[in-house]
Amino acid sequence: MGNLLVIGAQWGDEGKGKIIDKLAEQERFAAVVRYQGGDNAGHTVVVGNEKHAFHLLPSGILHPDKKCVIGNGVVINPRILQRELGLLRDRVGSNHAQLLVSEKAHLIMPWHTLRDAIAGGAIGTTGRGIGPSYADAVERRGIRLIDTRHRDWFARRVAEELEWNRHLIQAMIAYYRLADDRVAALNLEATLDAERITADYWESLGTIKANPLVQMGDVTSYLNQVQDSGRDILFEGAQATLLDIAHGTYPYVTSSYPTVGGVYVGTGFRPRDLTVIGVAKAYTTRVGAGPFPTELHDKICEYLRDAGHEFGTTTGRPRRCGWLDLPTLEYCKQVNGLDVLALTKLDVLTGLDRLKIGASYQLGERVLRTFTVSLEDLAQTQVNYEELNGWEEDITGVASFEELPATARDYVTRIETTIGVPITMIGVGPDREQLIVK
Ligand code: IMP
Repeated sequence: MGNLLVIGAQWGDEGKGKIIDKLAEQERFAAVVRYQGGDNAGHTVVVGNEKHAFHLLPSGILHPDKKCVIGNGVVINPRILQRELGLLRDRVGSNHAQLLVSEKAHLIMPWHTLRDAIAGGAIGTTGRGIGPSYADAVERRGIRLIDTRHRDWFARRVAEELEWNRHLIQAMIAYYRLADDRVAALNLEATLDAERITADYWESLGTIKANPLVQMGDVTSYLNQVQDSGRDILFEGAQATLLDIAHGTYPYVTSSYPTVGGVYVGTGFRPRDLTVIGVAKAYTTRVGAGPFPTELHDKICEYLRDAGHEFGTTTGRPRRCGWLDLPTLEYCKQVNGLDVLALTKLDVLTGLDRLKIGASYQLGERVLRTFTVSLEDLAQTQVNYEELNGWEEDITGVASFEELPATARDYVTRIETTIGVPITMIGVGPDREQLIVK
């Protein structure tokens, strides 16, 4: 069957966690792998009546027969990892997947979170220090897990980078003209203390390393072994195509590569067969700032937000909501080479008597059928909508495509035929089982 990548087709929060969790049940997968992002992600997986929210651990973590992997492309805040592993221990004991973490992964340090707090506001970041950690990696100032093998070495690296960051943060405070109360809230003296940081990280990483279910090591050779053994790998994208640092709505993006190329640089996976599943919501949402052509500011926006519980898993912020946007899906197909689409939250549209789909963009005389990343063009773009009939019937118990109301089937088919990619999974409710497989 081959390896599988699950990727966000819009601006994130498409419900990838549930799809991955469901796919991870398949025996053929030996591993579930994250390749980018950090604890800015948030996957809520509902099992029975219990909700599990993870930010850093792969969504496959509840499957004890799998290995979960965090690749080198992920940035790690050890405190968060420690907390999530502790939560697992309390809820399911040792009945969860083993975890392999790449030693090449970069750490999120306290100065990254401070820099994000000072400068991340314009983008509306999650404030988790993600961008600054990636920036330091690229600037060759990062501290990696491999630097935490010996305490002396780690302490030296912390001291070196802290000195630089002290200057940088003071310059940022001056540049952004931060008010005194905001500077006081940063608690710089206590936060930027080398000995304290070293001790704190050492303690946290020590707890993680002592966990018999966790291993720090070489992800690339492990993935090679899996491929040689004839079993398959399930890759889990965090965030989404339009938040990609290269292909998204730059600069209103995250700082990693959620798109397909991120898999290779973020794990060292050798390019072989890889089927790509794009996950799209039946409508569109976005958190943080940046363009959103089909955004709504009316009662329908509120309806979607309430019915879809559209509040950020990581920050709790209300998500911006709008109609489905076909040019974004077409773009996602082009950037990632989508093989199939999964459509989530179709049930959220129940009760709206007329549904709109953004079919193309009007830019002056030109009609665009795919997304444009030019902020200037997007500011002038009008969306050409098509209207379809909605449905009233409760679809949350529907188990097959044929059982859906005719208008719901039309809605799905309209997307499928325009994008030219089969929709093989349709989410009709939050539970793992509320998924139609076509
Ligand atoms: P950062 O990833 O914290 O740097 O935030 C950059 C942008 O990506 C902001 O607009 C965030 O709201 C957005 N973002 C980051 N992670 C997610 C996610 O998991 N879902 C949706 N948006 C996200």
